[in-house]
Amino acid sequence: MGWGVQRAQDHRGSPHPLPTSPVEGEVPIELVALLAPTGHPAIDRAMTDIIALDAADPFARTRTLFDLPDGVIYLDGNSLGALPRAVKGRMAEVVATQWGEGLIRSWNTHDWIDLPGRVGDRIARLVGAAPQTVMVADSTSVNLFKVLVTTLRLRPGRKVIVSEQGNFPTDAYIAAGVAELLGQGHELRLVQASEIEAALGDDVAVLLLTEVNYRTGAKLDMAVGSRRGNRRGPSSFTHLATSQPSFEGMAAVAGPELR
Ligand SMILES: Cc1ncc(COP(=O)(O)O)c(C=O)c1O
Repeated sequence: MGWGVQRAQDHRGSPHPLPTSPVEGEVPIELVALLAPTGHPAIDRAMTDIIALDAADPFARTRTLFDLPDGVIYLDGNSLGALPRAVKGRMAEVVATQWGEGLIRSWNTHDWIDLPGRVGDRIARLVGAAPQTVMVADSTSVNLFKVLVTTLRLRPGRKVIVSEQGNFPTDAYIAAGVAELLGQGHELRLVQASEIEAALGDDVAVLLLTEVNYRTGAKLDMAVGSRRGNRRGPSSFTHLATSQPSFEGMAAVAGPELR
């Protein structure tokens, strides 16, 4: 029998019975029913290390705040995170009271009108941005469409959007679609990550990048856009959909013109 971790009890239904962390001196509940080692020294050593790291993880409690199907280790979510347990109840309450009862008055009585900025300010703290510089609106693709159209119109003399070949596919589709839609000879130029800086010539209106590659996890050097952007003129947009909040000051790399 291999190593495995079994829940000694299912605590998903109860209010907030978080497993006790060994940081506070007790064994976490997930480790109580640990199964036998495999007999393969390297695997067993690795498992021992992994379990020790898990046990010392200050975020161990955070896992219990999210609803995930049993047995799922959710690493590939792109921008769709796991469902926080509190969300279902809160959504039901907001729909029933703010929409159902408050109706159109909720724009004022529940301050819906300021929600894009209020939520934006909370996100700003996570991504290292200054207050009142982040807004929450629409979807990633819709926002990208709006910002591309606006920027290309602000720079009528430049016709090229530069992006990276491995960028998230919908970003490239939006950029290509905008170039065609405007009908003014715009073009999307996709280059290798190593060729980005060299591609930023005087004809480039926009540099569109995703900081973290959604497939490989590789992190791009975002300074490349700002360096060239300041010197040679293209607006640079950094996509943070796949970034981790731990990357310091990541929101500060947006193009200077539209920040
Ligand atoms: C880099 C990137 N661009 C675009 C999208 C698409 O987002 P949306 O469905 O909100 O338009 C995602 C979603 O994961 C993404 O990670």
